[in-house]
Amino acid sequence: MAKKLDITNITKQNLKILIDNTTIKNRVVSIANTINSNYKNKNPIILCVLNGAFIFYADLVRYLKIDFEVDFIKLSSYGSSTKSSGTVRMIKDVSANIADRHVIIVEDIIDTGLTINYLRNRMLDGQAKTVSFVTCLLKERKKYHFDFKIDCIGFKIPDKFVVGYGLDLDQRFRGLKNIYTIK
Ligand code: PRP
Repeated sequence: MAKKLDITNITKQNLKILIDNTTIKNRVVSIANTINSNYKNKNPIILCVLNGAFIFYADLVRYLKIDFEVDFIKLSSYGSSTKSSGTVRMIKDVSANIADRHVIIVEDIIDTGLTINYLRNRMLDGQAKTVSFVTCLLKERKKYHFDFKIDCIGFKIPDKFVVGYGLDLDQRFRGLKNIYTIK
C-alpha cells in the first residue's frame, strides 16, 4: 500500500523542478504583451487572488504598458491540505466597485476550478462589464468545476501537487523562484 504523504517532513530536498524561473519569466512577458494589446484604453481592474497569485501578479503587472488599477481578493479552499476542501471561503472581498469595469482575474493555479467558478459568479454579481481569467498554471484534469473559457494560461501541468513561485504547501515554499513538484 502506498505511504500517506506526511507534509511536515517535506524539505527542499524533496522538490523537483517542473518549470524554471527563466521559462516562467519569458511566459510572463508574453502574457503581459497579450494584455497590452487587448486592453488598450480599457483601464481594467487587475485582480490578484491571494495568497498564491501574489508573485505571478507582481511580475506580470511590471510588464504592462496600459493604464490599469490593482485590487486584491483573498479566498481559501485548501487550508493546510494538498487536496481541495471542496468549499471556497471568502476571506477578503474585492475593494473596488467593479460595476461596468473590465476585470482581469489573475490566479496562480486552476486545479478543480471551484475557485474561478466562485470568482466569476462574484464578478457577475458585481456587474463587471467583462471578466477574463489569466492563470500561471492549469492542472490537466478530465473534469473541472467550470464551463467557461480561460483566456490566458501560462502552462498546462500534470495533475500533481506543485509549490514555489507563490504556491505553498501548508504556507511553506511560496518564495522559491522555480515551480516544483514533490518527489
Ligand atoms: C489555491 C490557488 C487557487 C485555488 C485553485 O488557493 O491559489 O486560488 O487553490 O484551486 P481550485 O481550482 O481547486 O479551486 P488556496 O486555497 O490553496 O489558497 P492560497 O492561494 O492562499 O494558497
